[in-house]
Amino acid sequence: MGSTFPDPITEKRNHNLLCAMATRELHHNSKKSATSTSSFAFCLLLSLICIASLFICFSLFRNGAASPSLTYTILPENSKNSNCNYTDGRWIYDPTVISPPRYDQTCKEIFKGWNCIANNKSNAVEILKWRWKPYGCDLPPFGPLRFLESFRDTSIGFVGDSLNRNMFVSLFCSLRQVSSEVKKWRPVGADRGFTFIKYNLTIAYHRTNLLARYGRWSASGNGDMLESLGYKEGYRIDVDLPEGTWAEAPSFHDILLFNTGHWWWAPSKFDPVKSPMLFFKNGVPVIPPIPPDAGLDMVLAHMVPFVEEQARPGALLYFRTQSPRHFEGGDWDQGGSCSRWQPLVTQEVEYLFSLKNNGTNIETRLVNEHLQRSLKGSSFKILDITHMSEFRADAHPSTAGGKRHDDCMHWCVPGLTDTWNDLFVAHLNKNRV
Ligand SMILES: *[C@@H]1O[C@H](CO)[C@@H](O)[C@H](O)[C@H]1NC(C)=O
Ligand SMILES: *[C@@H]1O[C@H](CO)[C@@H](O)[C@H](O)[C@H]1NC(C)=O
Ligand SMILES: *[C@@H]1O[C@H](CO)[C@@H](O)[C@H](O)[C@H]1NC(C)=O
Ligand SMILES: *[C@@H]1O[C@H](CO)[C@@H](O)[C@H](O)[C@H]1NC(C)=O
Repeated sequence: MGSTFPDPITEKRNHNLLCAMATRELHHNSKKSATSTSSFAFCLLLSLICIASLFICFSLFRNGAASPSLTYTILPENSKNSNCNYTDGRWIYDPTVISPPRYDQTCKEIFKGWNCIANNKSNAVEILKWRWKPYGCDLPPFGPLRFLESFRDTSIGFVGDSLNRNMFVSLFCSLRQVSSEVKKWRPVGADRGFTFIKYNLTIAYHRTNLLARYGRWSASGNGDMLESLGYKEGYRIDVDLPEGTWAEAPSFHDILLFNTGHWWWAPSKFDPVKSPMLFFKNGVPVIPPIPPDAGLDMVLAHMVPFVEEQARPGALLYFRTQSPRHFEGGDWDQGGSCSRWQPLVTQEVEYLFSLKNNGTNIETRLVNEHLQRSLKGSSFKILDITHMSEFRADAHPSTAGGKRHDDCMHWCVPGLTDTWNDLFVAHLNKNRV
């Protein structure tokens, strides 16, 4: 069952890794006289430090789990946190949680592969015992009833890939738990949508992977520009055309939350050789062809002003930052896994996500750099969930996702996306005067 202690194998691997890195560093920094003896001695020392710190961690953890002092205290939702940096914080273990606090595995909207409780993932409930604690304030679980009441006659659209659906499901289940009169419908091209009748509050999910319209492309045989450059097959992406699934969403919803990211670094779908992304603007190919990350910038440069122009007066526009994946030992199609039973520590997070390590999940922070640049000066507010989520390697469906490969990309529901919604609601409460 879900042990809360560090997995010794992983710890050992990380320790070896640290040693390898330290050795490399030494070789790098010192002159040729830095012999392997000195790096061996250094590693030995490092090992001792590691063992000592592990020991300290264990004892701290034991004390923590037993003492109530670590238990999360919830401040009233209306306490003034106006200057709090919600991004800057840590995960705190609350052993008093024994069952899902907001909704459970019976919520019908939960996609089967994400229902970790129903799928018997051993730490499915353990995941819910960790609470995000910003250093300067608290991020309390939002109150669903209070939310329904204060956002009467409001329509909220989630626009993006399956990770936005994951968040949408969490919000739906939280609200459905306290208000069961629900009309199911699909406003303006939505993949799914619901109105909480008593409150006339609508939430909808609009599925779109790239925000821009795209489809398969193949050479027509009449010698167009791409063909003459040797392209035969690929995907045509119109950087200036919103995908039909959400094009009407900005004029319909009062609050919008966008995301895009995973599909831009997805060589298994958009294979750079066999099925590359081919960008079109004004209906003609962008020549010379540009790589996906430059295509993302172009798409954002068109979609951001499109949404701003089409949005309803007083609409609140949000862009969510990239959700991290946690594949270790290979990518999703190379046997990568995420067998973690508690959140990562800071060093592990940096090892997995630091840009200079160029690891499997490199897209996480890269996407954010593109978003930050493209959204600067726009009327979008950024919902920054990346840093808090980078720690949560334990909160993916993993082998319980019911696929051939481990799912270290989506999140168990209930789970981490409940906290994303706490953050979202905290922002909404703050920004709606
Ligand atoms: C909030 O905290 C994060 C993480 O420490 C930091 O990167 C960011 O710059 C902070 N934001 C502000 C506005 O201070
Ligand atoms: C989970 O465990 C329950 C009870 O043991 C069992 O009935 C159910 O079939 C299991 N579900 C899966 C997906 O393995
Ligand atoms: C219900 O809410 C929508 C906004 O989502 C609003 O346009 C509409 O007027 C509301 N209906 C009633 C009956 O208040
Ligand atoms: C990063 O890693 C990928 C594959 O793992 C490799 O193709 C690429 O060249 C690397 N990039 C850099 C800058 O090292």
